[in-house]
Amino acid sequence: MNILVTGGAGYIGSHTLIELYKAGHTAVVVDNLSNSNPVSLQRVAEIIGIPEIPFCKVDIRDREGLEKVFAAQKFDACIHFAGLKAVGESVEKPWEYYENNIGGTLILVDMMRKNGCKNIIFSSSATVYGDPAEIPITENCPKGQCTNPYGWTKSMLEQVLMDIQKADPAWNVVLLRYFNPVGAHQSGRIGENPNGIPNNLMPYITQVAVGKRKELGVFGNDYPTPDGTGVRDFIHVVDLAAAHVAALKCFTQAIRQSSNQTFVYNVGTGHGYSVLDMVKAFIRVNGVDVPYSIKPRRAGDIATCYCNPDKAAAELGWKAQYGIDDMVRDSWRWQSQNPDGYPEN
Ligand code: NAD
Ligand code: UD1
Repeated sequence: MNILVTGGAGYIGSHTLIELYKAGHTAVVVDNLSNSNPVSLQRVAEIIGIPEIPFCKVDIRDREGLEKVFAAQKFDACIHFAGLKAVGESVEKPWEYYENNIGGTLILVDMMRKNGCKNIIFSSSATVYGDPAEIPITENCPKGQCTNPYGWTKSMLEQVLMDIQKADPAWNVVLLRYFNPVGAHQSGRIGENPNGIPNNLMPYITQVAVGKRKELGVFGNDYPTPDGTGVRDFIHVVDLAAAHVAALKCFTQAIRQSSNQTFVYNVGTGHGYSVLDMVKAFIRVNGVDVPYSIKPRRAGDIATCYCNPDKAAAELGWKAQYGIDDMVRDSWRWQSQNPDGYPEN
């Protein structure tokens, strides 16, 4: 298939491009580079062994820009990663998050339908479950209250896309609810490149290990979990990338006939690891120190979040292959080989 990949220069998008090409697909990336560096695409092309990844520096809120992209070629599907994702920033700038994530997606979807492309995979998040009603979380678990505007953009966009599919069954909508992506491509050439102080656990650990930050703050050790620290379903980004390729199956006739609906999948490993499990695995596997101290709980955090990934296994034939040691090893390879992230282009 020929796939439009919005946000393809970013962390998950760049890894997904590799898996798409490996599976025989082609892609065109649309990204405004607001949170990414085009060097990621050069490195993706090197890894795949092609001269370049077709790239259009276009904002998904720019109708005319998108129109040119659609006029130049035909797409079988869109994998839609583009969006702002910093939880704390979304609390300070809710308008910017709703406008970019929701406004941008509405324009993208409008341009897709006008150009006859009605297959979309959307990057959703475990955050839509709020404080989950059951653990492990299945797709039948009701959606919950999000604690920040970023989370609400995911929850609302799921609803928008489901309603569009219901009104026009020619649409095929796949919602992938990611758990906690970590790790990097085994080459060490691409990885997560956060701006400023990392919000998420793994980039914070790697920046402490490489000497950019003094110590990790562990947010709370009094949760009702085995060691008192938060438990999450960390998933290797290469596994997550492969789930997108597997999800393209939803656009084939065989699956569509059996279930004409929006497809919703949890994308996680089904295993919960605590914050201290991750820190200890990182130190053990990589042989580097990660000083840490216990800090108060972070507002909005929940104790435990991991999924039941059986639906994706049964319907898509997808299952995570990598374990915790791979995750911490590959995160460190990327960070240690690229201490300052991507070079300026
Ligand atoms: P990322 O920031 O690395 O990638 C997102 C890309 O979208 C960036 O390259 C950015 O420049 C681009 N972008 C943002 N707004 C745009 C716009 N208006 N037009 C064009 N491009 C735009 O983030 P990521 O970690 O790769 O996440 C990809 C998607 O997955 C996001 O939608 C994110 O919310 C979602 N997600 C991420 C996580 C995670 O932990 N990383 C978890 C759940 C869901
Ligand atoms: C967060 C977001 C979620 C988003 C996801 C992926 C919140 C409340 N949720 O999930 O919406 O989809 O990232 O981007 O922000 N931790 C520390 N010290 C740190 C950083 C994290 O102890 O410096 C702990 C957290 O308290 C948590 C665990 O590590 O228990 C994982 O945190 P994080 O990586 O931020 O992911 P989530 O909070 O699960």
